[in-house]
Amino acid sequence: MRIAIFASGGGSNFQAIADACRAGEIPASVVLCVASSAGAGVCDRAQTMNIPVFVVKGISDPETEELQAVLARHQVDFIALAGFMRKIPGSLVRAFENRMLNIHPALLPAFGGTGMYGSRVHEAVIAEGVSSSGATVHIVDEEYDTGPIVLQESITVLGTDTPASLAMRVLEVEHRLYPKAIDLFARKLIQIRGREVIIQPKS
Ligand code: GRF
Repeated sequence: MRIAIFASGGGSNFQAIADACRAGEIPASVVLCVASSAGAGVCDRAQTMNIPVFVVKGISDPETEELQAVLARHQVDFIALAGFMRKIPGSLVRAFENRMLNIHPALLPAFGGTGMYGSRVHEAVIAEGVSSSGATVHIVDEEYDTGPIVLQESITVLGTDTPASLAMRVLEVEHRLYPKAIDLFARKLIQIRGREVIIQPKS
C-alpha cells in the first residue's frame, strides 16, 4: 500500500506512521507528504526521511486536479489525514472512497464537527466534565468527522487535566492507534458495509 499523509502541523502522527512503515511493522510505505504550507513542521520531518513533499495551494478545481495528478504520479492508493486543516474536496473523497482515514483527538461522535479541532476539542471535553476522552480513527466522508469509525481508544480525563495535558496524553494514544488502523487496511483485514466496519482477526 502506498500512503500519502496530509498534515498541517508538527507531524507527530506522520512520524509515527512513517516510522512504523519503515520498521516493517506495517506492510506499506509513506510515499508522499501533502502539507498545507511549506513552513509546517511536518515538512522537515518528511525531508529528513527523504519523503517528497507537495504543498497544496487551495481547493479550486484546477488545484484539486493538480493534487490528484501528483497523487497519481506517486501511485498513492491510500490517504491518511493527520491534522490537515483544509477541507478535502468532494472529488478527492470520492476518488479515495474507503481508502482515506482521519484521526480525531476525542471519542467521536462526541466533540467533533465543524470548528472542533486542536485545543478547542480538549477545552470542550473538560468544560463538559466528561470522564473519558481518547482518539478516533475514522473513514473520511464528505462531512467533518462523520465517517464510519474504524478504531477508538479511551483514556480517563483527570480532575487535574488542562487542555494541554489532555492533548498530550491523547496524542500518545494517537501514535499507537493510527499505525494500528492503517496496518489493518494494509493487511486487507477491513470490510466496510454501510457504516459498519468489520475487522478480521490478524492471523
Ligand atoms: C492530532 O491531535 C490529530 O488528532 C489532529 O491534529 C493533531 C495533529 O498532530 N487531527 P500532529 O501534527 O500529528 O502532531
